[in-house]
Amino acid sequence: MRKKIAAANWKMNLTFQQGEKLLDEILGAGIPLAPHQEVVFAVPFPYLIMSRSEVEEEMNYFISSQNCSQHKSGAYTGEVSAEMLHSVGVPYCVIGHSERREYFAESNAILAEKVNRCFENDIIPIFCCGEPLAIREADTQNAFVETQLKESLFHLSAEQAARLVIAYEPIWAIGTGKTASTAQAQEMHAHLRSVLAAKFGDAVADVIPILYGGSVKAANAVELFASPDVDGGLVGGASLNAVEFTAIIRALA
Ligand code: 13P
Repeated sequence: MRKKIAAANWKMNLTFQQGEKLLDEILGAGIPLAPHQEVVFAVPFPYLIMSRSEVEEEMNYFISSQNCSQHKSGAYTGEVSAEMLHSVGVPYCVIGHSERREYFAESNAILAEKVNRCFENDIIPIFCCGEPLAIREADTQNAFVETQLKESLFHLSAEQAARLVIAYEPIWAIGTGKTASTAQAQEMHAHLRSVLAAKFGDAVADVIPILYGGSVKAANAVELFASPDVDGGLVGGASLNAVEFTAIIRALA
């Protein structure tokens, strides 16, 4: 059975104390997860070790970093390597978030390297793709996201691809309160799965969770997650609120 995942992306929000309190509140809700359900917290680098010790007692709750370097090691001041993340027990890493692509000029080629660093270090990439508004308005979003997958993921083996998590995040829906309609999300997720199937085979495409991101909240999560190809969400703003995010976790069921 394909994994269903509620992933929180805290981005550059919350102090350490606020983050600890939020995790306590969410974990304190004691929401039991089925074997195929997971909750992932993508927290800022300095909070990874604290967060790992908070979640490690909880079945199917995990942490993630929000980024890693494309380089293995060396003179890259301020960067964090996948090897370092692995050494502190980080099992997931968000790769290619639209904010990284836009503000830090991360190209598809750089992201392919980051994906490689993750696999070399036994870290599962949560690979983000998604189109800006102008591409959606021109109705060329399918080709746009296909290129993102091709240039960053198509060098992988089928065995590696089967371990991926994909997040579709239409840029026009991030932090805007605008959500893709359930039909738009389902249509794109089915397209992404068909692109993955054409490259890696149906069996591989069938096990890759494809998360939706872009103004997911308690009020729309149930409907979004009910679509056959929407396997959960990558949640920004609403993941900073315990009431909202616990409702989103419950929407996995
Ligand atoms: P919002 O949920 O705030 O729209 O952010 C989505 C996102 O970028 C998650 O990675």
